[in-house]
Amino acid sequence: AIPVARSVASLRAVIADWRKQGLKVGLVPTMGALHSGHLSLVDLAKTKVDRVVVSIFVNPTQFAPNEDFGAYPRTEAADAEKLAGHGDLIFAPSAAEMYHPGFSTTVSVAGVSAPLEGQFRPTHFAGVATVVAKLLIQALPDIACFGEKDWQQLAVIRRMAEDLDIPVEILGGAILREADGLAMSSRNVYLSEREREAAGQLNVILRETAAKVAAGTIIPEATSEGADRIRALGFDHVDYLEVRDAASLEIFPSGHPTAPARILVAAKIGRTRLIDNMPV
Ligand code: PAJ
Repeated sequence: AIPVARSVASLRAVIADWRKQGLKVGLVPTMGALHSGHLSLVDLAKTKVDRVVVSIFVNPTQFAPNEDFGAYPRTEAADAEKLAGHGDLIFAPSAAEMYHPGFSTTVSVAGVSAPLEGQFRPTHFAGVATVVAKLLIQALPDIACFGEKDWQQLAVIRRMAEDLDIPVEILGGAILREADGLAMSSRNVYLSEREREAAGQLNVILRETAAKVAAGTIIPEATSEGADRIRALGFDHVDYLEVRDAASLEIFPSGHPTAPARILVAAKIGRTRLIDNMPV
């Protein structure tokens, strides 16, 4: 098993020792309940640096009161076993270590946080940006890796690190998928057998909708047909299915992509909200 730091001071002591040896350091922030998607980010980091810190912290401030903070899977012992042979240190602080009494600072990223997830989870990205800014300042890594699974989150973090002059290189890792194409997620454990089967079709509809847009169908027509198909699978609600500029997440006013584009979806089945995205 790999060592665990629970305080910022002990995290910094380990990293200071690595720095003395001239080693390069990477950080992979997670909320635990690790799967192969998380491990692929650790392995990506390891191709660029000598030592990789994996943080495991279910960050309360990025969950709204009606969301699944309480139910979110917490599996630290299993996570530590999975990380053996991948990461070099786990940073698993308590909420009290991360948020001291009187904590009052919020990092909020305008623009790229506003559409899509921002419409449905209006406080989410401020919670993410604040905790990721803290983690980056705590560890001061050379690189930090984030998954394309959370495409908009990656865009928010890139913007935040650039705007705050945090001296770190942000790397994006490809989405890891199950055999049927379902994007791996810690939340997939919530799915019943019936829901799991329907969830496996979400990526198929995304790919087919993207192909239609690429072949010339106007975006609103392709996405409204795609959303109908998602509901027909048994999804209870489609929060959004949209094709956006891959970098800025802005819409294409002409209805056709005029720059690299991304299709993004969020949809609810039962008590589970799933997100996914892919290039157009
Ligand atoms: P979490 O959902 O645990 O995800 C941690 C990292 O793993 C994120 O960068 C996410 O994009 C990536 N990831 C998740 N599923 C993936 C998949 N199937 N393929 C590739 N990468 C995947 O995202 C968060 O935690 C939090 O918001 C966090 C950034 C840790 C801040 O609290």
